[in-house]
Amino acid sequence: MKIGIPKEVFAGEKRVATTPDEAEKLIKLGFDVCIETGAGQNADISDDAYEAVGVSIVDNVKSLWLEADIVMKVRAPAAYPELAINELELIQQHQCLISYIWPAQNEDLIQSLAAKQATVLAIDSIPRLSRAQKMDALSSMANISGYRAVIEAAQYFGRFFTGQITAAGRVPPAKVLVIGAGVAGLAAIGTAKSMGAIVRAFDTRPEVKEQIESMDAEFLMLDFDEEGSGTGGYAKTMSKEFIEAEMALFARQAMDVDIIITTALIPGKPAPELITAGMVESMKPGSVIVDLAAERGGNCALSEKDTVVTTSGGVTIIGYTNLPSRLANQASQLYATNLRHLLTELCPEKDGKLFVNMEDEVIRGATVIQDGTITWPPPPLTLTVNKPPPQTEAPAVNVEAEDRPSTPMTRFKQFLPMIIVALVLYGFGSVAPASFMSHFTVFVLACFVGYQVIWNVSASLHTPLMSVTNAISGIIVIGALVQISTSNILLTVLSALAILIAAINIAGGFLVTRRMLEMFRK
Ligand code: NAI
Repeated sequence: MKIGIPKEVFAGEKRVATTPDEAEKLIKLGFDVCIETGAGQNADISDDAYEAVGVSIVDNVKSLWLEADIVMKVRAPAAYPELAINELELIQQHQCLISYIWPAQNEDLIQSLAAKQATVLAIDSIPRLSRAQKMDALSSMANISGYRAVIEAAQYFGRFFTGQITAAGRVPPAKVLVIGAGVAGLAAIGTAKSMGAIVRAFDTRPEVKEQIESMDAEFLMLDFDEEGSGTGGYAKTMSKEFIEAEMALFARQAMDVDIIITTALIPGKPAPELITAGMVESMKPGSVIVDLAAERGGNCALSEKDTVVTTSGGVTIIGYTNLPSRLANQASQLYATNLRHLLTELCPEKDGKLFVNMEDEVIRGATVIQDGTITWPPPPLTLTVNKPPPQTEAPAVNVEAEDRPSTPMTRFKQFLPMIIVALVLYGFGSVAPASFMSHFTVFVLACFVGYQVIWNVSASLHTPLMSVTNAISGIIVIGALVQISTSNILLTVLSALAILIAAINIAGGFLVTRRMLEMFRK
């Protein structure tokens, strides 16, 4: 299949949906890749760089849309002023589109795409699961936004971030307040900290306290008993009383800090207004507010979308809504990597063919239209395996099969594996010594209990589980060392095998720990 990458047409959008490195990997997956000439220009990527890895360059955007089986973009289809059309008109029947879509806010767009019998994957609808992190463009773009927010603040802030003692006198460090410590907030904390500022942060979810403190920033405590954690790794809407209490906290902070970066948002809801005009007025002249939530109404009463406002009191309020595009090369690299990971999941056979597997909860979450059928919103995620599957339209066939009355033959087929196992065990038991059978029974029970225990552990607890299995490996090694020096060759071989397998588990534990520690290393 052919993947086409058009140049972004949305005003001010500088990102591009693939980079030469990622395009090369897509070609290795079996796809042909073509790109509109100049698509990477605003992200400092030349046509030649794409051509060098085997991407074909197409001059005419209309023929690109015509040729491609899959179109990958950053922005959802939008008006194309140069051609005086809308990109929607370029979409072909049964084409696959992968881009930001924001289905909840763009119902008309969804209807128009469905009318084209298209298959549409919304990169903004990838569920926030550990397995899907590598495809999570929202997180990678929020990370860039948090970083860029600090850089934008530094641009307008008239002082150093770091404190200095110079011959000319002492310079105090800047004080930065970050409201909302999600992905963007944590990136902003890290960046401001690395630039030497004193950083304070607040979030409604108490579990982020440790993350904030691990970055050497101060978590502002609110003496109010309300839990802010919602589902899917996001926050929930807080009570009016809580918002009032946190605003009182911000009012005190506003008089003290130099820079405020606000990222507070609950997906699908308008941004809560947390910084009032009065608080802005109380800030020192030269202070800066960067409102990352400006797109959804803003966390600051005075912020204006895509505009930099300076108040009469000398406070600058930045309301840019496309911060990733202000770091276009980096953002394109991360976005392209997210898309390539998604394509890898969509092409399990690595044969250049798309397989939209609706049984896979990540692909199901991202698929908003399948062959013209609107499949958004997806069913709620199931985090534990033993919960009943969500009610979707897909398993209709299975339901029928379950409802069908079972014949004696089907019942026999159901029990056949158990009968075979029972016969094998009986055969074994009749010839094996009694001591073997008692050990064997313990072994089978251990396998069963171990399987049940591990299968029921939720994904979030896999890291502690790993350390438990490492401890068990230690016990296995001791047991095997005791047995290894017997004269029985079978026992020696089994012990050696046990030591080998346990050693693999222990080494794996060290590797995982090292990778986790590296995430915190600068
Ligand atoms: P996130 O969902 O990971 O983080 C939002 C955080 O705000 C959560 O930790 C949540 O607990 C917190 N929060 C919610 N209500 C709050 C309240 N009342 N008080 C304090 N904290 C509260 O979201 P992410 O990915 O970090 O994005 C943050 C913001 O940045 C969003 O508004 C997003 O739309 C915006 N964004 C802006 C971009 C830009 O160019 N301006 C680009 C990317 C994201």
